[in-house]
Amino acid sequence: MDVELIAVSAEDKLVLANLMQLYLHDFSELDARDLSPHGTFDYPWLDSYFTSSDREAYLIRIGARPAGFALARCDVEGDDGAWNVSEFFVVRRHRRRGVARDAARLLFQQHPGTWTLSYLHHNAPAARLWPAVAVAVSGGAVHRVEEHPPTVPAPKSRLRFEVLPSK
Ligand SMILES: CC(C)(COP(=O)(O)OP(=O)(O)OC[C@H]1O[C@@H](n2cnc3c(N)ncnc32)[C@H](O)[C@@H]1OP(=O)(O)O)[C@@H](O)C(=O)NCCC(=O)NCCS
Repeated sequence: MDVELIAVSAEDKLVLANLMQLYLHDFSELDARDLSPHGTFDYPWLDSYFTSSDREAYLIRIGARPAGFALARCDVEGDDGAWNVSEFFVVRRHRRRGVARDAARLLFQQHPGTWTLSYLHHNAPAARLWPAVAVAVSGGAVHRVEEHPPTVPAPKSRLRFEVLPSK
């Protein structure tokens, strides 16, 4: 499977906005978020990925067609200089074929060094995907912090790891 990771240009912002709706619809099964009165899901941070130098948006493409996206931001929650996977999505048509695994590696290689990411424990695909990918790109040293209610709405894990160049 030829997976490409392409920085989203301002002209392709609508492509990202469209895919974001599919992602948020999937996520609404996990966090019970509601639709707006217009029948869409709100995502107030989309513009910031086109205006802030510490945020990056990528389209995942297969055969020149959109197949998902990856959003990343730098230095969140006091992680000095670390990059964080803020949102990550593969369309249903292409799931379970290693697309997320390949795209995540391409994403991490944009910024070798410290990365963090979080996932909900009841998001079964993410809960299997991320620990395995983190081990693969870091050579094994993955720091994991669990959070549980009432601190957070649902159990989640946060991973922190060092991405080696070309892993
Ligand atoms: C999570 C997601 C990105 C996985 O994408 P994908 O391209 O299907 O994942 P891959 O095919 O690369 O799978 C890699 C590994 O992840 C795990 N995995 C992926 N989907 C899974 C599923 N439905 N059930 C259990 N494990 C799964 C498996 O360990 C898999 O390896 P294997 O196929 O060799 O068993 C995709 O399901 C998605 O976009 N979900 C909705 C949005 C989301 O939850 N994003 C993550 C937020 S933290």
